[in-house]
Amino acid sequence: MTDPFDEFLRMAAELRSLRRSTKTADLLYSKEAYEGHWSKVKDSITESIAAGEDLPTILSSLRPRPQMTRKSRSPAMLSITKSLGFDVDGARPTIRPTAVNGYFVPSANIEPMYEILKVARESKYIVELGAGPGWNLLDLCIWLGRKIREKVFYGLEYASSGVETINFVSQSFNLPILGHQFNFMDPDISYIPDNESALIFTHHSIEQVENISKKLYDQILERKSTTHVIHVEPIGWQRFPEIIDARKNNDEVFFQALNVKKNSLLDTSFAAAAFSALHSWKVHYNINALSLIDEFKKHANVHEIERVIDFNHSYNANPFNASTYIRLRYDPVCSPP
Ligand SMILES: C[S@@+](CC[C@H](N)C(=O)[O-])C[C@H]1O[C@@H](n2cnc3c(N)ncnc32)[C@H](O)[C@@H]1O
Repeated sequence: MTDPFDEFLRMAAELRSLRRSTKTADLLYSKEAYEGHWSKVKDSITESIAAGEDLPTILSSLRPRPQMTRKSRSPAMLSITKSLGFDVDGARPTIRPTAVNGYFVPSANIEPMYEILKVARESKYIVELGAGPGWNLLDLCIWLGRKIREKVFYGLEYASSGVETINFVSQSFNLPILGHQFNFMDPDISYIPDNESALIFTHHSIEQVENISKKLYDQILERKSTTHVIHVEPIGWQRFPEIIDARKNNDEVFFQALNVKKNSLLDTSFAAAAFSALHSWKVHYNINALSLIDEFKKHANVHEIERVIDFNHSYNANPFNASTYIRLRYDPVCSPP
């Protein structure tokens, strides 16, 4: 039997004339888009604070959870739901395809924010890179309760409106969260104290940046205390060298072929990765994080604790942009995992 992956590689070679449309990508994912987005969030929070609302109430009105049902009734979503044996009639299917280990399945069982919470409990400094308006850090503050008084949180963000929102909410509720400007392309985390343990995490922020700088990992390796690193990013597809090469070589034909062939890959263990690779190509998402992480973990003082590929969770209900969770630990003094 022909390998479906080989089949689509062959097809890529035949589709020399096709070109992709790039019309929405830059508009949707530019810095300007997030400036406007987070400034609306700030306006809404300002109104809620003026009305005397508490933090959990504000958070749940901003970002209802869990977001386990997906509004989309796109033909692809419905046909995959059907192929899994579920009813797609009714206003909004309550069963949705989700992705884990490369397959589409009816449910997923990992909540990365809870994994982040577990590590946050044992860390003095908690740092989110690409934190948006800081709502993940606010979730952590609520879950950690009075323990937050023993900790310092850093919300590092590219869009100024995000940084402003973080500092505004932090000051309004007297929280130990500091917002700072940050750019994955020229990162600086040198001011995060390293006298005690830290957790540095990313949650669907690296995805936005086609190529992040290796300097981030170089700076982690300079730290003097245990540093936990957790990434929750849609980068699992980057394990396939053929797809990475196609992105690096700007091989439009390859992705057009993948687009045409994607449904024939549904029974394979890389279905979710293939769809996520396609999504990443369409919107110019990240292409180098997995290789940098794999390089980082080769260091003798770095241990990979856990990796779960291609899955959905409460804050990412899109199976076509499946998350991958990677947890690592850096100890300045070499020790077993
Ligand atoms: C999808 S949002 C995720 C925000 C937050 N981490 C969350 O889980 O909701 C992506 C975030 O990445 C930020 N971002 C985009 N480009 C960046 C860059 N070069 N450096 C740092 N953050 C960036 C955006 O401004 C935005 O806040």
